[in-house]
Amino acid sequence: MKRILTGITPSGYPHLGNYIGAIKPSLELLEEKSESFLFIADLHALIKVSDKETLKELTNGIAMAWLASGLDPEKTHFYRQSDIPEIPEITWILSCIAEKGLLNRAHAYKAAVDLNNEGKKETDEGISMGLYSYPLLMAADILTPNATHVPVGKDQQQHLEITRDIADKFNRKYGEVFNLPEAVIQDDKTVLGIDGRKMSKSYNNIIPLLSTEKELKKAVMKIVTNSQEPGEPKDWRDNTLFSIYSSFAGDDQIQDLKSKYEDGIGWGDAKNIVFEELNKLLMPIRERYEDLKTQEDYVEDVLQENAKKVRESTKATLESVKSHVGLKTN
Ligand code: ADP
Ligand code: TRP
Repeated sequence: MKRILTGITPSGYPHLGNYIGAIKPSLELLEEKSESFLFIADLHALIKVSDKETLKELTNGIAMAWLASGLDPEKTHFYRQSDIPEIPEITWILSCIAEKGLLNRAHAYKAAVDLNNEGKKETDEGISMGLYSYPLLMAADILTPNATHVPVGKDQQQHLEITRDIADKFNRKYGEVFNLPEAVIQDDKTVLGIDGRKMSKSYNNIIPLLSTEKELKKAVMKIVTNSQEPGEPKDWRDNTLFSIYSSFAGDDQIQDLKSKYEDGIGWGDAKNIVFEELNKLLMPIRERYEDLKTQEDYVEDVLQENAKKVRESTKATLESVKSHVGLKTN
């Protein structure tokens, strides 16, 4: 049976880009007949988030975002990475197999080194071992529950190659334990931010997923436009407002806005259309979110229940790995 697995790092507040590019597609995959593992990668977040209250809040935010977006915790394994102690244990064992050279080539580490070189700093200045060995933790995330298919964005493809490389090396050295997982690369549906760059928590240009109607409207009204007046025909190509609309609206609605642009709709009216449609999309998510907030222990209970379910398979993998390498098993 297919075992689909993917994770989201809680290093920022969830936004429309995360919903369209990651949350919605992962929930659509669950419709198929397969087992699935969706998790909050809080051990990964520790690389970037050093304030403890912030880490707790962001972890809870990602859990809420997934549940409010319609994830049914009965139909999937929905868990927090740090509740599964087999993952860091297997990470160590993998680190004894992976060659350092393989990790030297990982893009997050290379980018950090390039930045240091540009700034005339020491090559490895300020680079934590966590950042350096990030691909090993990701390999353990995938291999410990023995995933077969991993939906990720293009930027994560290299990590999947590293995972397969290490799994293959382990299997050849000690015997077949790990399945070699396949990356399922999702279409590049990049959602633009309100300033016209890619929507990202790093650019302060997001449309928040879990917001009030008022906050949503405020974000939409801030989307950049130009100084064209109402009545002047407008080009929908290379237009941030239109691009954002196209990332979530239906085909008929997109065609309709295109005609309105050609007929010279004013920016204020166009923004109102975008807001109304977006509000329709996000309203049920907002309602579930408000409801979840009133059920104090619900999210924690769901995560604990699911961690138990997940550990049935991760404990088995750890036992098998230990016995293959010659460590004492239980
Ligand atoms: P950010 O860019 O805000 O740091 P992350 O890198 O944490 O977001 O991404 C989490 C998930 O959301 C990834 O699967 C990523 O592909 C998806 N994602 C993030 N930003 C966008 C965007 N603007 N458009 C589409 N998908 C996005
Ligand atoms: N590294 C992924 C990201 O930044 C998140 C992640 C962590 C992940 N572990 C994973 C994704 C395992 C898929 C499988 O988007």
